[in-house]
Amino acid sequence: MGKNARPDSTIFLIFGAAGDLTWRKLIPALYNLYLDDWMPERFMVLGLDRIEMGDEEFRHHLRDSVERNSPQEKVDKDRWSAFAENLHFTSGDFKDEKFFNDLAEELAKVKKGWDGPTNTIFYLAVPPSLVEMIVQNLGKAKLNQDRQGARIVAEKPFGRDMDSAERLNQTLTGIFNESQIYRIDHYLGKETVQNILAFRFGNTLFEPLWNRHYIDHVQITVAESVGVEHRGAYYDQAGALRDMIQNHLLQILCLIAMEAPVSLKGNEIRNKKVDVLHAIRPIPFEEINRFAVRGQYAAGWIEGEHVKSYREEPDVASDSLTETYAALKLFVDNWRWQSVPFYLRTGKRLPAKVSEVAIQFRPVPHQTFPAAALMDWRPNRLLLAIQPDEGIFLRFEVKHPGLTMHLSPVLMQFYYREAFQAEPPKAYETLLLDVMRGDAALFMRADQTEAAWQVLAPVLQAWEENKPFSFPNYQAGTWGPEEGEILIAQDGRSWVIPTYLQCQENLAACHIATTNES
Ligand code: BG6
Repeated sequence: MGKNARPDSTIFLIFGAAGDLTWRKLIPALYNLYLDDWMPERFMVLGLDRIEMGDEEFRHHLRDSVERNSPQEKVDKDRWSAFAENLHFTSGDFKDEKFFNDLAEELAKVKKGWDGPTNTIFYLAVPPSLVEMIVQNLGKAKLNQDRQGARIVAEKPFGRDMDSAERLNQTLTGIFNESQIYRIDHYLGKETVQNILAFRFGNTLFEPLWNRHYIDHVQITVAESVGVEHRGAYYDQAGALRDMIQNHLLQILCLIAMEAPVSLKGNEIRNKKVDVLHAIRPIPFEEINRFAVRGQYAAGWIEGEHVKSYREEPDVASDSLTETYAALKLFVDNWRWQSVPFYLRTGKRLPAKVSEVAIQFRPVPHQTFPAAALMDWRPNRLLLAIQPDEGIFLRFEVKHPGLTMHLSPVLMQFYYREAFQAEPPKAYETLLLDVMRGDAALFMRADQTEAAWQVLAPVLQAWEENKPFSFPNYQAGTWGPEEGEILIAQDGRSWVIPTYLQCQENLAACHIATTNES
């Protein structure tokens, strides 16, 4: 199916439809697709969960979500009613094989009344403990048999280490073909993350410089100011490494480091990305501290508000050793990236919600200018701002106006909101539309998830065996533990303050980015 065509008729089944994901992300995304005429001509969304609820109650509950989460100003009564007619709810027990047989009959009936091909999408918005049972029961009810139209969507976490990921993948691929499986990493649906591909491979300008000869190092920062919110029970078992680095940050790294794909076909992109993961140099177990740092937040202040420590959050153990901050140094062992460090950091309760990739270029090979001209000189830097203010910034040197030769860094800026004056689609809209179209390019393949766990295996093992004694070791509202600074400082470099923050604090710093240098 073409990238610009509306999908075939679709039945969208959501397991765990009474939960938060359906309410907060899935239904607002489907509704927005509907408003923009991307939904199939014929579709049905069937919510499935244990609790008793009628269609009308389900619709009412979801309307409230759309009111709050839809970027559209106001929910149009008539359009919502037309959309909501397609929403249904069925209560049931996911352990019960009969429930799945009844479901199969129901689906067959619906499809019989529709002509043409129909997609059946099974969306698993359930805790990991239920996944295997649901997948097996779908298989027993033969709901996996339509190898073209039947698709299953799995949310992270994809296991909690290499072994559990392999088992999960075996369960999924035992019943469905890999081409029917869509493992969601919502970062891949973000407009700016996709734009890394457009920027790298739609321009000739940067690609010749995109290698070890010109790039000194790469930094990937995904910072959040929120704590664990209401997800303490899940997060306390996961931690920052599993929750963010295993998926979102490593996927961004892949997009930055991959070789040029021949086409945008799903497997082509995924092959190139998995090559990067396979090329990541194994972190030496005995030297973990030189390559990986963890932290946990203590109470502190964020935007003038006092916030509690991680251990005081709901559903978190009062002596928890789970990390809420993680930073890594990785190397990609291939011709392009040999000896170029990739520094990754993420954490909760950092000063702001901001994600950015900084590509730091090398200094010029020979300085033509006298020392007096170079007081403010800085090497080139390219910044890919992923959120909240999406944009691309390039720092380069110019002559400072005046009668003497003095070089000054300036920033060339591109902001999406200014250039296009349009709200980009939300990640879930892009991803759900791709599932309906059968385009898996933005989804994780089994081997990608396993290769990502492989990269982290030594860190997981070392952290498991050596408990942290210093937790909590950073104050909420700061950039993480001191060790995080040391990780990069030991190489004579420093973390870049994300452009968004520099611009917020001081507009001049935005234009003449001279602060925080490496
Ligand atoms: C999720 C993590 O995958 O990503 C959360 O489980 C995190 O802990 C979230 O808060 C961040 O996503 P975004 O899109 O808000 O940056």
